[in-house]
Amino acid sequence: MLQGQTLRDLLRDTPTLTGSPPPFPAELPPRPGVLHERWLRDAIAAGVPEPHAIVLSTADDEGRPSGRVVALKDITADEWSFAASPHSRKGREIAVNPSVALTSYWPSRGRQVRVVGEARRGSAERSQADLAARPAAARAMALLARQSEPLDDPAELQPALTDALQRLEDGQQPEPDAWVTFHVTAREVEFWQSDPQRLYPRVQYVRHGGGWHLRHLWP
Ligand SMILES: Cc1cc2nc3c(=O)[nH]c(=O)nc-3n(C[C@H](O)[C@H](O)[C@H](O)COP(=O)(O)O)c2cc1C
Repeated sequence: MLQGQTLRDLLRDTPTLTGSPPPFPAELPPRPGVLHERWLRDAIAAGVPEPHAIVLSTADDEGRPSGRVVALKDITADEWSFAASPHSRKGREIAVNPSVALTSYWPSRGRQVRVVGEARRGSAERSQADLAARPAAARAMALLARQSEPLDDPAELQPALTDALQRLEDGQQPEPDAWVTFHVTAREVEFWQSDPQRLYPRVQYVRHGGGWHLRHLWP
């Protein structure tokens, strides 16, 4: 009976780690990007909903953190990519403090990946290609370029979107830096997996010179 239960009781009675993790890899690849890609492909094949949704944590110049979900766009050569407005809160925070964290969790696979590193803006070409591949409404929002600004009246939103869609149809383009790709050079990456006996395997990759040092961590 959910009604009448305190939130604290309800949360305590709600199970965590209900998924079925595949075996933890016995052979670990020397680079974390390779393992993250393998785990992502596994999550996609297993039908995990929105497996590329990833929590992006940033912090302002005083170290005050903020987090939100973004879509992971790619992993190449130990670089993790996402895209956003550079004028948004996350964009402004990255501009003053490029240290970020990216966190994935795939419940049915019982797997978590944590990436920590430095974000930099991608090239204009890459950013524009990413925006061009987005749906019309997303491009219209980029034309408006107002992400994370206060919205005095939510009723303004629909007419502004309709107007921006029309301007797009008329050939108007978003400003070149309305939407940019960001690329995170990882400093450390951790792979964590659930285990029925609570012997959660954890492997941390730490950048070391031109390569990676691997170590296991206590759960
Ligand atoms: C599943 C999901 C995917 C999202 N993908 C993106 C994305 O790729 N880029 C983006 O800027 N915001 C994305 N958002 C919206 C962000 O979570 C956030 O609301 C927005 O970027 C403003 O964040 P900020 O004010 O902290 O900058 C996504 C939200 C969800 C729930």
